[in-house]
Amino acid sequence: MLKLGIIGTNWITQQFIDAAKASGEWALTSVYSRRLDRADEFAGQNGVSETFDDLDKFFSNGHFDAVYIASPNSVHFSQAKLAIEHGKHVIVEKPAVANQAEFEALDELLRAHPGVLYFEAARQVHEENFKLIQAKLRTMDRIQGATLTYMKYSSRYDAVLDGQEPNVFSLKFAGGALQDLGVYLAYDAVAWFGMPDDVAYYPTLGPTKVDDSGVAILRYPSFNVTLNTGKSSNSYLPSEIYGLKDTIVMDNAAELGQVTYHRADGKTDNLGVAPDKNPMLAEARDFAAVINDPASHAKDYQAWRQLSRNVNKLLFNLRQSAHLYFSDAERDTPAE
Ligand SMILES: NC(=O)c1ccc[n+]([C@@H]2O[C@H](COP(=O)([O-])OP(=O)(O)OC[C@H]3O[C@@H](n4cnc5c(N)ncnc54)[C@H](OP(=O)(O)O)[C@@H]3O)[C@@H](O)[C@H]2O)c1
Repeated sequence: MLKLGIIGTNWITQQFIDAAKASGEWALTSVYSRRLDRADEFAGQNGVSETFDDLDKFFSNGHFDAVYIASPNSVHFSQAKLAIEHGKHVIVEKPAVANQAEFEALDELLRAHPGVLYFEAARQVHEENFKLIQAKLRTMDRIQGATLTYMKYSSRYDAVLDGQEPNVFSLKFAGGALQDLGVYLAYDAVAWFGMPDDVAYYPTLGPTKVDDSGVAILRYPSFNVTLNTGKSSNSYLPSEIYGLKDTIVMDNAAELGQVTYHRADGKTDNLGVAPDKNPMLAEARDFAAVINDPASHAKDYQAWRQLSRNVNKLLFNLRQSAHLYFSDAERDTPAE
């Protein structure tokens, strides 16, 4: 059984712990929170007692093999760095980093710590319906583009309208719609179609100056892919991938609950399967499999790392195209 430590005590951490437990591969052992009473409360709810409010002590003295990091985006880098330096495997929530420079610095650090594995928790990549779409695309004669949508009114947007700045709507915390929900669409696009030749992002900035919503256009040699994302309204639009006379339709490009293949003859096939009740179950299983036997899963691991590298590069290039910067240093860094 692999031992798990966690950073961040919001609902998403509980969902990952539940998935990890359900996989039968993981046992939670250690909880870090900035406040010890919060760490104790969260640990107590999960039946464990090893708690910390000091990050160095958490990594030095905590009895765990891997850390799951679900903190605000801007602190992923420093926390992952500390984990790697302490020889702990890393599972970091999406987006793994705030920018390209951070991704490259972690790449270098990982090269110096070859025994440490690092995963971006891009849950949909590990889910069955995502892979079924990927496999179907390989059988289609011609791809002519896609329109992918993921827009959900955020539970924190009322606070934004009230004049507050929750982390996910803050430039300081590397927030905004593209980083938060857009990352799922970026994963779809890069995994299914590869890296685009050229990109442009047209954000709608909100009261806190992040992109409350936005439209991204990814240009491929023979088609375009449009990404619609947002956290200040709800969209009920399905998403589509266009073949010649055939089309793949998803109820939702990130949640992938229902996937239908509209054939050239007008008939439809149900392409997907019923998703897991806990959408993080598949990734919890996959990460455990790699950690338990890295040699047998080296190909998958390298493929996920490359995908993560490309997706984070794409997010950075999209923000650069919109002059949407998290720091002054980013202003001087050209898109790749
Ligand atoms: N995969 C998914 O489906 C999914 C869903 C939601 C979120 N996420 C990702 O999970 C991450 C966390 O998102 P969230 O909405 O939960 O963020 P959040 O509520 O702003 O923060 C998450 C946790 O980080 C700690 N934290 C808060 N402010 C902090 C600060 N200034 N410095 C250091 N730690 C701080 C808090 O834990 P303590 O108070 O205990 O320290 C908090 O519970 C993000 O990267 C997000 O993209 C993924």
